[in-house]
Amino acid sequence: MTAILETHGLTKRFGGLVAVNNVSISVERGSITAIIGPNGAGKTTLLNMISGMLLPDKGRVIFEGKDITSYPAHKRARMGIGRSFQNISIFPNLSVLDNIKIALLIGLGEFGASINPLKKLSRYDLLEEAIAIAEAVGLGGKERFIAGSLTQADQRKLDIALAISRKPRLLLLDEPTSGLSVEEIPSILSLIRRLRGNSDPLTIILVEHKIEVVRELADRVIVMKEGSVIAEGPPSSVMNNREVIEAYLGEGYA
Ligand SMILES: Nc1ncnc2c1ncn2[C@@H]1O[C@H](COP(=O)(O)OP(=O)(O)OP(=O)(O)O)[C@@H](O)[C@H]1O
Ligand SMILES: [Mg+2]
Repeated sequence: MTAILETHGLTKRFGGLVAVNNVSISVERGSITAIIGPNGAGKTTLLNMISGMLLPDKGRVIFEGKDITSYPAHKRARMGIGRSFQNISIFPNLSVLDNIKIALLIGLGEFGASINPLKKLSRYDLLEEAIAIAEAVGLGGKERFIAGSLTQADQRKLDIALAISRKPRLLLLDEPTSGLSVEEIPSILSLIRRLRGNSDPLTIILVEHKIEVVRELADRVIVMKEGSVIAEGPPSSVMNNREVIEAYLGEGYA
């Protein structure tokens, strides 16, 4: 087994609160890992320390064998870590294509302030690339739609499009099905499966509240509660773990 990502003893405090407490995980390349747990368990904080939005108080993050603990978010993005946010973060007044083009340009810009991204990629290439990404997430034919007018599911697809625009090898998705209706969820599930399933497999870590989604998608489940990992393993065994069921009972999930 080859781990694309490892965390060792990650800890994050907010004042007196230990939001993430000594979390060590190992994620296999090409796998889909779901992080579950009640509200406030520390799931988003853990993702933030993997993507570099937050630096840990203690512990290390190892990506593809390299210690990236002190690297800022933009450097990690450049190295191949992409992410989407719990709240959809698109430009609502711009078209689907313009949203994706901006993500592509930002990606290029980070290769160095001295390089003009527009010189590096001709307008034509930018357009082609943006159209290809829109198609890849299932927004083909909607390229000119204004992002804010899309359905929730399509906005989520666009959000994922922005996260994959720089061709990450590790993709972090924070509650990709939140705010979606039951009917909208399958299209996001098949998109996530599709993203993972190409010849150079993408590794995905997703935070998810919906147990059915976790069962459908995840190879491995990590359960967090009050900042700590309380269980991990394949969905079939983790979902039947007593401590896990109890952690959810209080939240009304069982
Ligand atoms: N920037 C912050 N400042 C202070 N406290 C924070 C901050 N971010 C998170 N917290 C606290 O840390 C704890 C963990 O929060 P986190 O957002 O990681 O939980 P979560 O598992 O993602 O929850 P949810 O399922 O509601 O999204 C919570 O108690 C939260 O209030
Ligand atoms: Mg969260």
